[in-house]
Amino acid sequence: MQVQVLSPVLIAASLRAMQPWTADSWRSRPARQQPAWPDDRQLNAVLGEIGALPPLVTSGEITELKSQLAAAASGERFLLHGGDCAESFAGCRSSPITNQLKILLQMSLVLTHASRKRVIRIGRFAGQYAKPRSVELETQGRVSLPVYRGDNINRPEFSLAARTPNPQLLLRGYERSALTLNFIRALVDGGFADLHHPEQWNLDWVVHSPLAAEYKRIVDAIGQGLQFMETLAGVRVHQMQRVDFFTSHECLVLDLEQAQTRQVPRRSGWWNLSTHFPWLGARTGALEDAHVEYLRGIENPIGIKVNADRTAAELIALCARLNPSREAGRIVLIHRMGAHQIAAALPPLVEAIAHAKIPVLWVCDPMHGNTELVLVKTATLAAVAVKTRKFAHILAELEQAFEIHAAAGTVLGGVHFELTGENVTECMGGARGLVESDLARAYHSSLDPRLNYEQALEMALLVARRV
Ligand code: PEP
Ligand code: CO
Repeated sequence: MQVQVLSPVLIAASLRAMQPWTADSWRSRPARQQPAWPDDRQLNAVLGEIGALPPLVTSGEITELKSQLAAAASGERFLLHGGDCAESFAGCRSSPITNQLKILLQMSLVLTHASRKRVIRIGRFAGQYAKPRSVELETQGRVSLPVYRGDNINRPEFSLAARTPNPQLLLRGYERSALTLNFIRALVDGGFADLHHPEQWNLDWVVHSPLAAEYKRIVDAIGQGLQFMETLAGVRVHQMQRVDFFTSHECLVLDLEQAQTRQVPRRSGWWNLSTHFPWLGARTGALEDAHVEYLRGIENPIGIKVNADRTAAELIALCARLNPSREAGRIVLIHRMGAHQIAAALPPLVEAIAHAKIPVLWVCDPMHGNTELVLVKTATLAAVAVKTRKFAHILAELEQAFEIHAAAGTVLGGVHFELTGENVTECMGGARGLVESDLARAYHSSLDPRLNYEQALEMALLVARRV
């Protein structure tokens, strides 16, 4: 008989998981990355207003996502999780939203075709308006101001007025989340995502892409497959006609998350009804801190970003705290280690979780461990440091992830990308071989560099060969 020795951390984590929880019990814990709101009265008035507005998603949808994630963990489905690093208020317009859906639909089509699995689509949208930052202040010349934390909190312009956190922006963000989600739901209901018409998802600027032929081959093959099944069954394949999108954002600004945490009739527990899938960022994931305390009490499935510094003991304790009943579909571990670190850092974690028989869905985020700074010459020939990522590093991390999971006998059940349907030049490499001098041409992200449409589709074509 094997006797398992429990570590003191794990015992403490499990005991705390049994303590009473309230939507505001996080307040007694250290909360990192929170804005310094200048006026509590104004903040509380806004939070009260948000709490009284109707929710954005329903508990039924959240439950459905959880069961789909459980299926992905056992290899029956595959998760495609992607979108902007941060949404902007200015980006809440029809064309960027439809372009984002188009690229996610095209990628999922490619992945479905290759894997013969149903793909779950989760967007980083309808609420991804706040960002963790590595410093509190930004200094220009002799002036230091609070750093820009995303459109929910303050504005990017370098002035005291713009950078002072403004709670009214939370309300604007909630409204824009609702507008975004309303548009997405209407598009999906109106047949935009109909598999019989994938030509609706083509993006204008990509007609001459070197990838167009390979993509068209896949679309044609799927069209023929659908036709074949329909001929056989004598009906249109209704389940395949409609595809769904779920929403996600980083669970970061806890005042806001609390305001949107509710109970619902006929179901037990508390639900964060601002999104289907909140995730715990790499900078706020300490076991005893406020974000973990908040997340342990809600019913939603939870993503956990896992960087190369995480130890197996910490990860096991986090799972015990956040999922004491070991419910399938509850925990998604999103590793983001970097192409140069994953080979050493991931195998011990995968083995420890598998050995402890903890049910999780493993997902690879090959973006956040591969960010680097390069010097780029601007029009005035001054050199500025620009954040970028290399296509080759992103792909190398993904390929290693597939190999590590295969070797451990675990399932890599999904991928996580920062991408956009726009023709930006933020990441280097890919089919068109973007280089440093291209970065200045169309660099629009105010935060992390995203794969453009073509790079994202190429990534899907390459991942498809491995799934
Ligand atoms: C992100 O997903 O945009 C992010 C900040 O990730 P991480 O917490 O993994 O750094
Ligand atoms: Co990011």
